[in-house]
Amino acid sequence: MSNLIKQLEWRYAVKKFDSERMLSKEQIDTVKNAFNLTATSYGLQPISMVLVANKELQEQLVPHSYDQHQVAQASHVLVICIENEVDDRYISNYFKQVTKVRGVSSEVLDPFKDALIDDFSKKDVQEVKEWSKNQAYLAMGNLLTVFAAEKIDACPMEGFVPEAYDVLLGLAKKGLTSVLVMPIGFRAEDDVFATFKKVRKDMNDSIIEIF
Ligand SMILES: Cc1cc2nc3c(=O)[nH]c(=O)nc-3n(C[C@H](O)[C@H](O)[C@H](O)COP(=O)(O)O)c2cc1C
Repeated sequence: MSNLIKQLEWRYAVKKFDSERMLSKEQIDTVKNAFNLTATSYGLQPISMVLVANKELQEQLVPHSYDQHQVAQASHVLVICIENEVDDRYISNYFKQVTKVRGVSSEVLDPFKDALIDDFSKKDVQEVKEWSKNQAYLAMGNLLTVFAAEKIDACPMEGFVPEAYDVLLGLAKKGLTSVLVMPIGFRAEDDVFATFKKVRKDMNDSIIEIF
């Protein structure tokens, strides 16, 4: 079996973290890089990640996380957010970054930029939010795999109240809305969930091979 598959078997959604252990600066750098290197549609990255390492704030998040104590125990809590607006200015900024990084002239990029601005102007707010959310889930999936490879424990979480997180983290003034939460760190030695067998569909039921 490939090593990566063994590492994916090792990972599980941690229900109890060791609150005494903190991730190293090097591990946090890996977390940040893995998030930022996630592929996104058009490369627009309509997502941001808030990295919380503040026990007092983490405790305050518990009642807004359906009393899931992982957010208080974990070394760090990642909150993946989407942009509230992906407008002309946002898209233009992306193309400015392309010009800066790759040195491609704006004359070359302008037709693509204009087409993208036109495309987004035809979508309604909800549609753009859904699209942005898809990118957030992609980032979470990417992080889960990287964490498994790096032996960083995590619990992917949809079970929280975004409106409350947005207030506690001051996200509105940053133009962001929270969509996913991921406490990360080290599993507690007595987390019984670590001993449970993985429940998955039979591979024949989840994979269709056409030859
Ligand atoms: C998008 C998403 C949201 C989830 N939300 C929660 C959550 O709020 N609380 C929790 O304990 N587990 C949550 N989970 C964990 C799943 O229940 C878990 O991944 C699934 O049962 C498979 O188990 P495993 O990850 O341990 O292999 C979530 C997983 C995903 C992918």
